[in-house]
Amino acid sequence: MKDYRSLLKPKPIPAHVAIIMDGNGRWAKKRSLPRAAGHRRGAEIIEPMMDTAIELGIKAVSLYAFSTENWARPRTEVMGLWRLQEEFFAKKIDTMRSRGIRVLHSGSLKRLPPSTRRTIEEAVASTAKNRRMLLNFCINYGGRQEIVGAVNRWREQAGPKEEFTEARMERHLYTRDLPAVDLLIRTSGEYRLSNFMLWQAAYAELVFTDVLWPDFTSRHLCRAVYEYQQRERRFGGL
Ligand code: IPE
Ligand code: IPE
Ligand code: MG
Repeated sequence: MKDYRSLLKPKPIPAHVAIIMDGNGRWAKKRSLPRAAGHRRGAEIIEPMMDTAIELGIKAVSLYAFSTENWARPRTEVMGLWRLQEEFFAKKIDTMRSRGIRVLHSGSLKRLPPSTRRTIEEAVASTAKNRRMLLNFCINYGGRQEIVGAVNRWREQAGPKEEFTEARMERHLYTRDLPAVDLLIRTSGEYRLSNFMLWQAAYAELVFTDVLWPDFTSRHLCRAVYEYQQRERRFGGL
């Protein structure tokens, strides 16, 4: 693969990159390993990715880690994922803190095991003052659920005559503190959104790659940003 890092121009750098981290199961299957091994490896590559994102000057990264639809998987896999996420936050929180990363969470924590929920809440609380980069973990996240939730949250505090607007919607989405998604990456050769960032991806540039998430490296991230830099974003204009 070309050294895309060296081909990057200083601008434009996407402010917000959203990643659908897909293909852990197939990565494991190819190696005759249990699916859980793919998830484990998938979690390990997050740290080098954060470093590259910081180095490139990306302001925010959203990672799709568990969808509202993933509850349809066998209970053992789901429970394994919660354990893994708990371990991830326990192990990585100091690194994220020292790198100046502010951790955010998108989704509903209600159905999660209490201990998993606590580690995520602690990660969010203990990094709240960090400013270098936003790392938004989308866990038990669904775009439709987010939109319905936002409308309901708005309605609870809206005056009787108040009109619903795009700006009001945005203020009630999980991503209210994040810039718009400029670049959306999906790994593993699937060409769909799977209920991710339905509102926020309205004008995102989409990059699909066949690379399975556990094989995704900083070089692949640079390549996606390179592809982004080749695009002409018109936003409906000329
Ligand atoms: C993505 O990898 C991780 C989660 C959805 C939790 P998959 O587990 O979907 O991997 P494949 O698509 O089966 O290969
Ligand atoms: C999307 O991947 C969800 C995450 C990466 C967390 P899936 O593997 O669940 O999506 P589908 O089932 O292929 O659409
Ligand atoms: Mg998948």
